[in-house]
Amino acid sequence: MELPQRGSATLSGALYTTLRGWIQTGTLTPGAALPSSRRLAGELSIGRNTVLTALERLVAEGFVISRPGAGLFVARLALPAFESPGPMDTAEGALSARGSALLAHCAVLNTSHHAFAPGVPALDLFPREQWQRLLRRHQQRAPEQWLAYRMEGGVQALKEALCDYLRLSRSVRCTPQQILITQGAQQGFELIARLLADPGDSAWIEEPGYGGAQAAFRAAGLALVPVPVDDEGMDPARVPSDAKPPALIYVTPSHQYPRGVTLSLARRLALLESAERHDAWLIEDDYDSEFRYATPPLASLQGLSERTRVIYVGTFSKVLYPGLRLGYLVLPPSLIEPFRRANARLNREGQYVTQAALADFIERGYFARHIARMRRVYQHRQTVLRQVLAPATAEGLSLSAGHAGMHLLASLESASLERTLVEAGNEAGTVLSPLSKYFVGNKPEPGLVLGYAGSNEERITRAGGWLVRAWQTLRTGT
Ligand SMILES: Cc1ncc(COP(=O)(O)O)c(C=O)c1O
Repeated sequence: MELPQRGSATLSGALYTTLRGWIQTGTLTPGAALPSSRRLAGELSIGRNTVLTALERLVAEGFVISRPGAGLFVARLALPAFESPGPMDTAEGALSARGSALLAHCAVLNTSHHAFAPGVPALDLFPREQWQRLLRRHQQRAPEQWLAYRMEGGVQALKEALCDYLRLSRSVRCTPQQILITQGAQQGFELIARLLADPGDSAWIEEPGYGGAQAAFRAAGLALVPVPVDDEGMDPARVPSDAKPPALIYVTPSHQYPRGVTLSLARRLALLESAERHDAWLIEDDYDSEFRYATPPLASLQGLSERTRVIYVGTFSKVLYPGLRLGYLVLPPSLIEPFRRANARLNREGQYVTQAALADFIERGYFARHIARMRRVYQHRQTVLRQVLAPATAEGLSLSAGHAGMHLLASLESASLERTLVEAGNEAGTVLSPLSKYFVGNKPEPGLVLGYAGSNEERITRAGGWLVRAWQTLRTGT
């Protein structure tokens, strides 16, 4: 007998895993007597205690039966043949039809922090020490009940701080009671889709638009109706007249993702009117409105109409960092209790210490200071990117206006140019996000979504320089 290590940390773990595997695959016949622990230890040249630990565990788990006075025997288990190919060996066989359909639209996330990663803030400039100090302080002070299951919709101090911030800077009409803290905007979209729409209902989405919200709607069994976005933002007048009336309308009014345009006042009014006419809920995703460089943001849609059913969705992923997993919903008073209950059941509340630290971070003015600093940094990074790309723009590469946000959009002439550039980028280690992947309909436009916020000057210069050379070579064939 040889003892394969099988990656176990201890010898007894390796012996346990090996014997269990042999029992599960039938290599050790059910009912067969096992050698004594002394003999096993001798044959394997390991300590008897090591053998006893492994055997005791097998007995405790029911793989081996101990008959006092007679010894140890392999249990007679009705186990499926372990090593034969089964449904667990390929994801295809394991996934439900709904799971497969959802995954067909879930791109593989590139988690390497590449130069043009869209939507990634300046992680290098996050005030970590300040944040750590607050976290430590609130960890020490945390009341015991914060360690238990919660159902308050988040820490009160955070809801209050957020409410002041949203009222002042985004003209959102709210009281702290209307806020539900979530683990990011994504969780907010999922709750909305599950609680306010039924499978088969339709959701109007922006085309091109944000894949995260689309995935949440798909997972809830909703039919997506892509609504074209032009220079004024989403245009409800262009929804086909025979389209099913929507239960939900999703929009990024402050800074359309990924086109980067602001929803005009005329379109805001048109959308509010559409939502009212169809009795639909408007989902206002205000993910990065803090980063405007030329003009202050327009007031929120939520604050524009008292009558319309608008849910305001916010996130700390862009203003702080995505791994924080904190976001929020501003709900009409009638919905707060049902949402809180469903959220506590489906997702569980948590991170109360982090929430308290965040409330403190906001109250002390650190939040406003960080945003103001990031606004300057991002504006500078965008300027650097534009300068680096200047040789290409001089020859016809068209870039979006960039009045706001964390990325620029480069339009390309053809789908084949987009594809070739993305492939060349992958080979050269410069990952590029194709604009076409933000479309769900059959008329995707070619382009590149170039995030700049998360990269310092040197990285932008290096990656931008590569892009200019690649674009010139592919376009002119030189
Ligand atoms: C349009 C849009 N909404 C929301 C989010 C933030 O989502 P979360 O709070 O789940 O990180 C993002 C992040 O990429 C986004 O691009």
